[in-house]
Order: sequence, then C-alpha cells, then structure tokens
Amino acid sequence: MKSARSLFLSVVCAAAFATAAPIFPRNGDSTPSVYSSQSTDSSQSMNSTQPTISVQPTVSVPINSTQSTNSTQSSSNSTVSNNSSQSANSTQGADFLPPGFVSKQAGALYFINNDPSGNFVIVGEIQSNGAVVPNRAVATGGKGAHGVSDPIGPDPLFSQGAIKATSSGKMLATVNPGDNTISLFSVDPKNPVDIKMIGQPVNSGGEFPVSVAFNKDGNVLCALNGGKVNGVQCFSASSKGLEVINNSQRSLGLNQTTPANGPPNTPSHVIFNEAGDKLVASVKGTPPADAGFIAVWDVAKDGSLSTDFTKITAPAGGLLPFSMTNINGMNAILATDAGVGFDIFDLSTVKNTQDKGNQTSSKNSATAINGQKATCWSSFSAKTGSFYLTDVGTSTITEVSVDKSLKGKIVKQFPQANNSATIDNDVATIGKHE
Ligand SMILES: *[C@@H]1O[C@H](CO)[C@@H](O)[C@H](O)[C@H]1NC(C)=O
Ligand SMILES: *[C@@H]1O[C@H](CO)[C@@H](O)[C@H](O)[C@H]1NC(C)=O
Ligand SMILES: *[C@@H]1O[C@H](CO)[C@@H](O)[C@H](O)[C@H]1NC(C)=O
Ligand SMILES: *[C@@H]1O[C@H](CO)[C@@H](O)[C@H](O)[C@H]1NC(C)=O
Ligand SMILES: *[C@@H]1O[C@H](CO)[C@@H](O)[C@H](O)[C@H]1NC(C)=O
Ligand SMILES: *[C@@H]1O[C@H](CO)[C@@H](O)[C@H](O)[C@H]1NC(C)=O
Ligand SMILES: *[C@@H]1O[C@H](CO)[C@@H](O)[C@H](O)[C@H]1NC(C)=O
Ligand SMILES: *[C@@H]1O[C@H](CO)[C@@H](O)[C@H](O)[C@H]1NC(C)=O
Ligand SMILES: *[C@@H]1O[C@H](CO)[C@@H](O)[C@H](O)[C@H]1NC(C)=O
Ligand SMILES: *[C@@H]1O[C@H](CO)[C@@H](O)[C@H](O)[C@H]1NC(C)=O
Ligand SMILES: *[C@@H]1O[C@H](CO)[C@@H](O)[C@H](O)[C@H]1NC(C)=O
Repeated sequence: MKSARSLFLSVVCAAAFATAAPIFPRNGDSTPSVYSSQSTDSSQSMNSTQPTISVQPTVSVPINSTQSTNSTQSSSNSTVSNNSSQSANSTQGADFLPPGFVSKQAGALYFINNDPSGNFVIVGEIQSNGAVVPNRAVATGGKGAHGVSDPIGPDPLFSQGAIKATSSGKMLATVNPGDNTISLFSVDPKNPVDIKMIGQPVNSGGEFPVSVAFNKDGNVLCALNGGKVNGVQCFSASSKGLEVINNSQRSLGLNQTTPANGPPNTPSHVIFNEAGDKLVASVKGTPPADAGFIAVWDVAKDGSLSTDFTKITAPAGGLLPFSMTNINGMNAILATDAGVGFDIFDLSTVKNTQDKGNQTSSKNSATAINGQKATCWSSFSAKTGSFYLTDVGTSTITEVSVDKSLKGKIVKQFPQANNSATIDNDVATIGKHE
C-alpha cells in the first residue's frame, strides 16, 4: 500500500511552483486587453524545498514601447518593492528581442510567487513578438504557502486558477494560501502591467485557498479552499472590493489538513460553467479506491449557491480530475486527469443539485494519453478549436479535440524540453498568431 502510494505521488502534479494569468490584446485591438488563466511560475528548481523565484520582486522596467506612458513608470513607484538594487536593467528587454526590434506592449502576464513571508503578483510585459519581460512585483498583502507533498514539486497548491483576471481584463484576483485570504486588483486596460490592489485582502471563507474563478461579467468571484476547512465561498467583486455573498459558503466535506496534504484528495480547480448557472469544483481521488469527482452547485441570480452539490464521480478509468475547461456550446467540461489523461463530464444531466446524489451520463468518459505521467493543466484555443493539455511529468503538450457527441481524441503531441515541467498554460493571441 505504502509503495503504491509513493509511486503514485512521484508522478503526480507535485512540485514547487506558483501560478499565473496572461493578458493579451485581442485581434485587431490596438490597446492591450486582458484575458487570463494560469501559467507557469518562474520557479525551476525541482528538488528545492522552497520555490526559487527567478523573477524577484523588482522595480518596473522602463518600457521602450509606443504604448508605454509616463503613468506606467510613475505608478510603479507606489506598487513595487522598494529594493532599488534589484531594479531591472532598462535594456533587459532588448536581450529577448531581435536586433533593431522595437518592442510594443502586447499584453501582460501575471503569476504569484506564493512566498510564505509575503505573496507577490509578478507582472511580466508581453512584447508584440511574444517575448515576456519582467516588469514589476506587487504585494498582495497576504501570504503564500506550500502544500505537503513528497517529493516537493512545482505545484505547491495542487491547483489551477490561483490567479485569474476577468474576461474584460479590468480586474485580477489571487489566492493567498498562507493566510486564507483573497486579494483583488484593478488592471489598467490600456496598460495591463499597471495593477493596483483594491482594498485589503478578504477572508477566503475557508483554509488554504488554491483557486479562484470570475463569472463572465466579472462581478462575482468564487474561491476554492483546499485545507482543513475546504469548499467554496463567493464574493461580489467591484471597484469597492470583495464582499461576501450570503449563502455562498459551501463545504466539500473533505478530510484534509492545512496546509493541504496532497496531491491525492485535494481540490484542484474552480470554474463557472459556460452558462454561468453552475459553479464546479474538481477534486482528486485517492487511488486506487477513490476516483475523485467534480462537485456542481447551482448559482442563483444573486450569486448564492445551492445548499448541496451534485457529485459526478470521475468516469471509469479516471482518477485525479485536475484542471477544467468548458467545452464550447456543450454544457460539458474537459478535465485533465493526472491519473490517466483527460476526463469529459457532461453537465446537461445535472437537473437539480439539491438532489445531492451522484450523477452519471453515458457521455462521461475518460481517455488515456499513453505514456502520460501527470496531465494536469488545460486550455482551449478558439482558433484551432482544440484543447491543449500539459503534462508536468513528461513535459509534453497534447492537443485534443472533442466532437459533438462529447467524444475526445488526441490530435497531436508536442514534446517540450526535457524536465521543463510544463504546468499551467494559456493560449495567447498576439495579432493573429497564437
Ligand atoms: C538538486 O539536488 C542536487 C543534489 O543536492 C544538486 O546537485 C542539484 O544541483 C539540484 N538541482 C537543482 C535544479 O536544484
Ligand atoms: C526605443 O528603441 C529604439 C530602438 O532601439 C530606439 O531607436 C528608440 O529611440 C527607443 N525609444 C525610446 C523612447 O527609448
Ligand atoms: C510625460 O511626463 C512629462 C513630465 O511630467 C510630460 O511633460 C509629458 O507630457 C508626459 N508624456 C506623456 C505621454 O504623458
Ligand atoms: C519614485 O521613487 C523615487 C525614489 O524613491 C522618488 O524620488 C520619486 O519621487 C518617486 N516618484 C513618484 C512618482 O512617486
Ligand atoms: C522597504 O524596505 C525596508 C527595508 O528592507 C522594509 O522594512 C520595508 O518594509 C520595505 N517597504 C516596502 C513598502 O516594501
Ligand atoms: C536588495 O536586493 C539585492 C539583490 O537581490 C539583495 O542582495 C539585497 O540584500 C536586497 N536589499 C534589501 C534591503 O532587501
Ligand atoms: C544593463 O545592461 C547592459 C547591457 O546588457 C549591461 O552592460 C549593464 O551592465 C547592465 N546593468 C546592470 C545594472 O545590470
Ligand atoms: C446578508 O446577510 C446578512 C445577515 O443575515 C444581512 O444582514 C444582509 O442584509 C444580507 N445581505 C444581502 C445582500 O442580502
Ligand atoms: C481523516 O484523515 C486522517 C488521516 O488520514 C485519519 O486519521 C482520520 O481518521 C480521518 N478522519 C475521518 C473523519 O475520516
Ligand atoms: C456515489 O458513487 C460512489 C462511487 O461510485 C459510491 O461510492 C457512492 O456510494 C455513491 N453515492 C450515492 C449517494 O449514490
Ligand atoms: C529527452 O530525453 C530523452 C532521453 O534522454 C531523449 O531521448 C530525448 O531526445 C530528449 N528530448 C528532448 C526534447 O530533448
């Protein structure tokens, strides 16, 4: 039993990174706008007990950009670490660029350093050629924390969605797992590296928050707590800050610790379904007996949640539901599954979450990715119509398509550099390129 468990642990999405959210201009837009999800932390060291952050909190890099304005630079003063000796070299960006290339700000990339002594949002500027240049670090006012796992790996929260931007790109939220809080930021849509905290961090409604989700309108934010007190809590989100929504604190009832002990039996990700009338959280199982599940709550107009959730157990073959991506127009979810490859969950048969019980659908399925070790993160490209799944164990990106009957198939695989430990990802549209 013990050896089976350690074998399992050695290949699951466990390592020492934090998470991120890129923002980009939409096609044809001249101003950078935001869309987001996670992406990798800069930490590279797989065998360190502390994440090593290669992008230190640093003073804003003066941007040689047609879009950069004075305010970019002056505002950075107030928001950034005061250690001027760490100040990035103003020519640093040029190192990433071809000779003579005049950089333009195309968007911004955010991740957290998840530092237990003080959590920071690290902001990178995305150049029009796709290069990312460190720009600034902004304190979240909260603390990071690392879940307990053996060995320590690049995913200390066992999650996706630790930092998210609204679809309009005007707000950004992040978890602070070390002090059970959530921080909200406003983003200047014309200059998305410029983020400012709104108010103070608020209690996450549980312990060890690991993931956040905005609704489509960006006015409701739900947090997923992964610790001893686990479950979800929703807030209204506005320029006034985050305010608890009544009747939206709901338990998952997992037997967990703070910080979480994982990856097995840990919450992974929280999202709204496409219609916005369901809130869904994924939970990894404890192989071999427990396959994991997704929990589905009804979301009322006022943002409150159904008292109970419908449980959809991972389909046969599934083990460790991880990141979730909505399947366009299908009221269904593609979830990476670190134990097999990916799972498809059909939400259309969820009638009334108050029924509490298990839901099944003949369209639910688990698909193996041969040779996969830990497929944990996913994103969708509207341009190719495909999903892109990353495997932290094999450093491979797998392209998957899903047909109208919710059957998924592997289109292509893209190996990345060995040991690059590819984790969170997102699809960026820069100009017309992805
Ligand atoms: C991992 O640990 C070994 C032995 O302690 C050390 O030699 C190596 O440099 C470490 N690798 C990284 C990436 O930190
Ligand atoms: C930006 O860089 C280009 C090319 O290196 C240079 O010609 C131009 O003067 C720079 N602009 C600013 C505002 O520094
Ligand atoms: C930049 O700041 C200077 C001095 O404050 C001001 O004269 C100039 O108009 C500003 N430029 C822009 C583009 O705002
Ligand atoms: C930025 O910081 C420097 C050094 O602390 C200070 O001299 C300068 O006035 C600040 N600028 C703004 C706009 O706050
Ligand atoms: C600035 O640095 C000092 C000394 O390192 C530290 O005590 C202080 O908290 C820092 N202030 C901010 C705003 O980071
Ligand atoms: C500032 O950063 C440098 C480089 O990382 C470091 O050596 C120095 O100790 C830091 N100073 C303070 C006051 O934090
Ligand atoms: C800034 O970059 C230039 C060109 O790469 C380099 O010569 C210089 O030493 C750097 N300065 C600092 C403080 O890193
Ligand atoms: C939330 O509940 C509290 C306490 O029951 C109540 O005072 C408050 O008015 C409620 N807020 C809303 C928006 O319904
Ligand atoms: C919770 O987990 C711990 C550790 O595995 C175990 O000792 C305890 O009995 C569990 N509690 C419940 C209520 O299942
Ligand atoms: C739900 O399904 C799981 C696994 O198939 C089973 O163990 C559990 O008893 C079911 N619960 C209900 C309420 O049917
Ligand atoms: C990764 O390592 C394996 C075995 O050492 C090697 O065969 C393969 O070519 C490497 N792949 C890449 C992309 O470097």
